[in-house]
Amino acid sequence: MNIQFSPDAAPRLVLSVQGLGKSFEMHHLGRVLPAFAGIDFDLHAGRFILLKGENGAGKSTLLRTLYRSCLPGQGHAFFHMTDGVIDLAQAADVDIALLRRREIGFITQFLQVRPRVAAEELVAEPLVLAGSGHGEALTEARRWLSSFGVKQSLWAAYPSTFSGGEQQKVNLARALILPPRLLFLDEPTASLDRGARLALVARLKELKAQGVAMIGVFHNPEDVAGLVDREFLLETAVPEPGQERRKPAFGEHHA
Ligand SMILES: Nc1ncnc2c1ncn2[C@@H]1O[C@H](COP(=O)(O)OP(=O)(O)O)[C@@H](O)[C@H]1O
Ligand SMILES: [Mg+2]
Repeated sequence: MNIQFSPDAAPRLVLSVQGLGKSFEMHHLGRVLPAFAGIDFDLHAGRFILLKGENGAGKSTLLRTLYRSCLPGQGHAFFHMTDGVIDLAQAADVDIALLRRREIGFITQFLQVRPRVAAEELVAEPLVLAGSGHGEALTEARRWLSSFGVKQSLWAAYPSTFSGGEQQKVNLARALILPPRLLFLDEPTASLDRGARLALVARLKELKAQGVAMIGVFHNPEDVAGLVDREFLLETAVPEPGQERRKPAFGEHHA
């Protein structure tokens, strides 16, 4: 599934976030902890938003909410699919599962290891599910494993035995083998060596040119400086004296 855009076409809207908010109910403390509130932004095809903020500002929670690993409390996140629009804040789980297969990707520093599946099969799987022949998908998978620096001797081995860095490379190869329309990245370079970081940035550049829209948190933002179109600062307000609740605000400035 290659998404191509002619350079002079106006970029398509991919995601429109409106008034998105989320709080955590801390039952054992008897209070509510707001993670973020009043988030508004639009993201177009081929655009890259760098999400910044202190530890605990809510960056991971925002990405996980958009990916629907958690449910938002308020607001909307309208995702413009190939055919139609769906509110990620309210979509049914089955629709979310389908979107995750074809249109929305998420990379973290953690590999979801599956027992007794070879690295190359794990990486090839998205292509097979999208209709590629098994042989062709394996060839492509090996190409990506090699490009992220996974030794050939490991391609047919089980990633559950790999080092953290090797698992992360398998993770990247699997997540990036097929371009999604929307990609979330939560500190994907943590635990990567320099070669793999360069391969990741090169792949992200290629995906951006193909029209993939991205929102990412990066431990070393200079890695992706050349890709960023906008920066969002997720702020954690300092609590007023005597007030327990934090009031995060969503600031935006252009890079
Ligand atoms: N499942 C959860 N239950 C309660 N609080 C959570 C949960 N997940 C995250 N938090 C809290 O929400 C805040 C934001 O966390 P997070 O999104 O991980 O921040 P960041 O990624 O910006 O460092 C933190 O104070 C964290 O402790
Ligand atoms: Mg985080």
